[in-house]
Amino acid sequence: MELFEAIEKRHSYRFGFKDQAVPREDLVRIVQAGIQAPSGCNAQTTSFVIVDEPELIAKINEVITKRVIGEAKAIIVCVASHPDVYHGMSFGVEDCAAAVENMLLAITALGYATVWMDGALRCDESAQQIAALLGVPEEREVRIILPVGVPEQRVVQKEKKPFEERASFNRF
Ligand SMILES: Cc1cc2nc3c(=O)[nH]c(=O)nc-3n(C[C@H](O)[C@H](O)[C@H](O)COP(=O)(O)O)c2cc1C
Repeated sequence: MELFEAIEKRHSYRFGFKDQAVPREDLVRIVQAGIQAPSGCNAQTTSFVIVDEPELIAKINEVITKRVIGEAKAIIVCVASHPDVYHGMSFGVEDCAAAVENMLLAITALGYATVWMDGALRCDESAQQIAALLGVPEEREVRIILPVGVPEQRVVQKEKKPFEERASFNRF
């Protein structure tokens, strides 16, 4: 799929998935797209745990009980770290977000669907519970998860405000 088509087709998907495997080859391609994202000072602060064991997916679904998690064939767990990389600044959150956007586009281009789950992780210590399940070291943060699968429903991207409302040339 051409890049601009993937940008237009990308959407948040929160419904069920077909009972169709997502091959590891595709998961590696998707996560490689995340690895190739830019990061502040090229510090590459985001790590990725690719969960494709059904038992582990079921355990994550006990923490976040949503169909899009329970029926996912894989869940990409993005683990952020926050080292000082430039004059006391950390870019861990931005690095993670850049990696996630690359992966959203790769997931779309390969014909799968996903949703950026972030807010959901910050309720009821869900991120910490998932970190414990996956053996994530304490100083690192489970920040975003991406359930992946072949969508059973057709969904389109939510409407965006027109260009003129959000962008301008030379002056705000
Ligand atoms: C920082 C961030 C956090 C998000 N957290 C969640 C979340 O926890 N759960 C969820 O269902 N969607 C989440 N989303 C997806 C947004 O709700 C979605 O992108 C937005 O409604 C626009 O829809 P679209 O992705 O189809 O364009 C998040 C998106 C971003 C960028």
